[in-house]
Amino acid sequence: MVEKYLFGSPFETEAVTEQIPAVSDIGAIPYGKISVENGFCFQYQMEDTDVIYGLGEANRGINKRGYKYVSHCTDDPNHTEEKTSLYGAHNFIVVSGKQHIGFFFDYPSTISFDIGYTKQDLLTISCSRADLYLYVIIGESAYDVVKQFRKIIGKSYVAPKYAFGFGQSRWGYKSAADIETVVQRYRENQVPIDMVYLDIDYMQDYKDFTVNEERFPAFGQFVQEMKDKKIHLIPIIDAGVKIEKGYDIYEEGVEKGYFCKREDGSEFVASVWPGWTHFPDVLNPDARAWFGGKYEILTSLGIDGFWNDMNEPAIFYTEEGIRALNQAIVEHVKTFGIDKMIDNPDAIPFDARGILEQIQNNSEDYKRFYHNVNGKMVRHDLVHNLFGYNMTRAAGEALKKIAPDKKMLLFSRSSYIGMHRYGGIWTGDNQSWWSHILLNLKMMPSLNMCGFLYTGADLGGFGSDTTRDLLLRWLALGVFTPLMRNHTALGTREQECYQFEQIEDFRHVIGVRYRLIPYLYSTYIKSVQQDAMYFRPLGFDFAEDRRAVETEDQLLLGDEAMIAPVYTQNVSGRTIYLPEEMMFVKFLPDGTIHEEILAQGTHYVEVALNEVPLFIRKGKCIPIVDVAQNVDAIDISTMKYLGYDGAAYTLAE
Ligand code: NOJ
Repeated sequence: MVEKYLFGSPFETEAVTEQIPAVSDIGAIPYGKISVENGFCFQYQMEDTDVIYGLGEANRGINKRGYKYVSHCTDDPNHTEEKTSLYGAHNFIVVSGKQHIGFFFDYPSTISFDIGYTKQDLLTISCSRADLYLYVIIGESAYDVVKQFRKIIGKSYVAPKYAFGFGQSRWGYKSAADIETVVQRYRENQVPIDMVYLDIDYMQDYKDFTVNEERFPAFGQFVQEMKDKKIHLIPIIDAGVKIEKGYDIYEEGVEKGYFCKREDGSEFVASVWPGWTHFPDVLNPDARAWFGGKYEILTSLGIDGFWNDMNEPAIFYTEEGIRALNQAIVEHVKTFGIDKMIDNPDAIPFDARGILEQIQNNSEDYKRFYHNVNGKMVRHDLVHNLFGYNMTRAAGEALKKIAPDKKMLLFSRSSYIGMHRYGGIWTGDNQSWWSHILLNLKMMPSLNMCGFLYTGADLGGFGSDTTRDLLLRWLALGVFTPLMRNHTALGTREQECYQFEQIEDFRHVIGVRYRLIPYLYSTYIKSVQQDAMYFRPLGFDFAEDRRAVETEDQLLLGDEAMIAPVYTQNVSGRTIYLPEEMMFVKFLPDGTIHEEILAQGTHYVEVALNEVPLFIRKGKCIPIVDVAQNVDAIDISTMKYLGYDGAAYTLAE
């Protein structure tokens, strides 16, 4: 059962596609306390045993209880435990205990979720304006609530099959020769691969939809040569359009009035990678169609996949920000005296870094520009969380027109529920930390709850230097995530698999992915078709088993399997909890598979660095095929079944 409540005059986010009559004039709702006095506040009294699932791409646990979260799409590369906002805004939660209730707060600006943080039994959701839709969903189980929610938000985006191959990326590949080296080294080492990502350096001066002709001469031909080698090149597209006379996209956008404007009607200016930029007004349907149409510049050269970045949108600084920084410096000079500052800079509490951080992604800047939504100027901060969604919608809608029958790869950094119909997401700038393997795992089911099925993290870690063992363990989780991409930041240690000793271990682990692709893609397609979750917390299927509910380092995969990756250093295995009997299978480096039935209960399983563990659920089986070097080369005639005798599996394509 889904109920829709209307408060004030909400902005139409188009997150929900199903027409549901709204109840207005709300004095009270039977599920909790509502106040619309100073903004909006909803309070719900949690039972001791209630688990709170949801919030999509958010920090911390699968059970969100005991902390606070703020939906405010933020470009913050430091995902430490105290952070409350990441790149996405996914305002859907499920309270699961004696009853199962879902709440979706369709509100496009900053909204806070205090989930037993201030008072341990109190769930408080608040935002500064009482203009929103609240959807309440009652179900028989947490999963039932999710399925009802997924039904009203529309079917998830479908990625092409090749996008289930392995991809290599690095911020720092500068030329066609760099890319060729990556491809050659993977191919000569027989480590399967299907995609190489182009980060910002393929562009001319970071200008969207341009290619640097010196470093990537005859780009179309290069794309084709790569295709012949069964490699898809996936370029990045950034939100900011460089301000440069003669750059057609800039000039056209200004002429047509398709960039975000200040109150006085002039174009808003912010600095990002290309220097000063304008933001395309992707909330304006005409501007969205215009910006989306530009993807054709690259698809016409053979490109069939994109990643959309910096679309919170990230702002390094604005002119106002610089003025504030200058002013702060002047104040410091006045207070401490220039002589003293020069003689002994350490003695001065001059926190330039702090000031710099303040001018980046500053909330004041988000109040300085407007979107033209059907002729009405809407201040950006009121709809901030919709930018990445609509940038990706621009691309998704355009790609459907450009090639109606072709599936294209598309994923974004920033997102809001609704974007799941147009593309997937990657979880942004994580770090080469062991704790981030676990964070990666925990985000996956929460994202699935919100419709984001094609998801994954930067394997090996984006920031800081990775290690061989970290990369191998992370890849062994990435074997199962729809997006399996090794990506790292400029200045970090080289992280391609061939940079490390004993390449055969990487060959094996990534090879296992290819053995599983028919099963994984089929599970993905079924999840799209049935509004199902590709990954589920154990508690979704074993709600009565408290131990299962509290297990947050294992996930159910489809209806047949469970994953339990190793995420700590210097160990030769890990403890797992089985809520029911399962078959423990281990893909061994010699190509054979260890199979062992384990009874319900706790076990310690040994998993070497070069092994991939998987659990098949009782009475089930999954299809596996022989290793292939790319998705096209998978030979379906080699398919056999792994798991319980007598079980059957139906493949979906
Ligand atoms: C930020 C993105 O999150 C990262 O993946 C990318 O490498 C850099 N921008 C540079 O484009």
